[in-house]
Amino acid sequence: MIVRLQCARCAAVYPTDQVRYVCDCGGLLDVSHDLEALRPEVNRHLFDGRLEGAPTPHVAPTINSGVWRYRELILPVTADVIVSRPEGNTPLYRHPRLSSWVGLDTLYLKHEGENPTGSFKDRGMTVGVTQARLLGARAVACASTGNTSASLAAYAALAGIPAIVFIPAGKIAAGKLAQALAYGAHTLQVAGNFDDAMRLVRQVCDELNVYLLNSLNPFRLEGQKSIVFEIVQGFHWRPPDWIVLPAGNLGNTAAFGKALYELKQLGLIDRVPRVAAVQAAGANPFYQSFRKGFRERIAVQAETVATAIRIGAPVSYERAIRTMGWTDGLVTQVSDAEIMDAKAMVDGVGIGCEPASAAAVAGTRKLVAEGIIRPDQSVVAVLTGNLLKDPMATVAYHTGEWPDAAYPNRPLSVAAEMGAVRQVVERLADSR
Ligand code: F0G
Repeated sequence: MIVRLQCARCAAVYPTDQVRYVCDCGGLLDVSHDLEALRPEVNRHLFDGRLEGAPTPHVAPTINSGVWRYRELILPVTADVIVSRPEGNTPLYRHPRLSSWVGLDTLYLKHEGENPTGSFKDRGMTVGVTQARLLGARAVACASTGNTSASLAAYAALAGIPAIVFIPAGKIAAGKLAQALAYGAHTLQVAGNFDDAMRLVRQVCDELNVYLLNSLNPFRLEGQKSIVFEIVQGFHWRPPDWIVLPAGNLGNTAAFGKALYELKQLGLIDRVPRVAAVQAAGANPFYQSFRKGFRERIAVQAETVATAIRIGAPVSYERAIRTMGWTDGLVTQVSDAEIMDAKAMVDGVGIGCEPASAAAVAGTRKLVAEGIIRPDQSVVAVLTGNLLKDPMATVAYHTGEWPDAAYPNRPLSVAAEMGAVRQVVERLADSR
């Protein structure tokens, strides 16, 4: 099977055993599969057959991982080299209260926060670290708003490869910092923002021959395509009308478009869902470019409560524009207040997510209110990260530190004395 790296801008090709993230022309690279050669081999039956029997932990990742199940469309490698937890196989939730809150008959939530390290990044990292191992990388590195560093730290530890993560000092959520430290990554707190950290890690990786595992790395995106593969397979290959996701560095937006394009080319789906990318209003360069018909590449000074998507100069910009074209996609934006209220709703039905993920739900609600998504259409919003990633944001919302919180659940103080406790519990027991 021929897999090559191909420039998304000028179509130049490079071999996959060479360390390279951008083309000589400056364009970003894709992992390019020979779709003609794959067509006779890859079909719904192949992937459905691999789903039979519940996944069990002690078999090869080619069988039990929700990424490597689709290996022909990701990276054709043998089970013995794969570094896997295993990842994927995430649930597709729905809840009537949430559906009606966003204004839909049914809203589906693909919960990527239920991956091994609590975010969708694991799907890309299993492929990226496997490739690092194949290349014999001396060390791996990334810049991160938190989740990528947590995932890289875990997978590098599994593979026994040193990991160096660059994070914006004081700007990543506590759960994510804890993970990077716990999994043993060398953690550089950069006195700057994510965009500064990204610029620095790119340069240092080039100069010192360290393997870069940001979503700039095309192998990462191949793994993240499996989110779409799982969604579509979960719908028995009849895709939903819309897939809505939060957008920061635009790696996922790029991966989703490529996944849908390939599924359509291979005849695995008849129809391509529309992709809606949602940005935080304070970190909205892609939204602004979209409004200008992508005639201008925009960068901003980013600020948002959703620290995961606090990104002003997204790297996968060009590949994400391609997704908009392939899927008749669109970009919208939501305020921090909308994000935190949507999060409180997702949390309050017992599912839970981190702030950036709630942007997908807030964005869905906005698009329904604007009449762009119809109430009877099928919509999957992708919850990208786990509730436990950012405990401080959640506690602030519920304890009165978040202005205008629509759904706070305030903790009550009570004396350590039975009379007082009885009085409070009596009042609460019948309330909802
Ligand atoms: N949601 C979460 C929870 C994220 O961690 C990220 C990105 C996104 C959404 C946006 O995805 O960048 O592909 O557009 N987090 C990166 C990180 C930047 O470093 O962890 P994107």
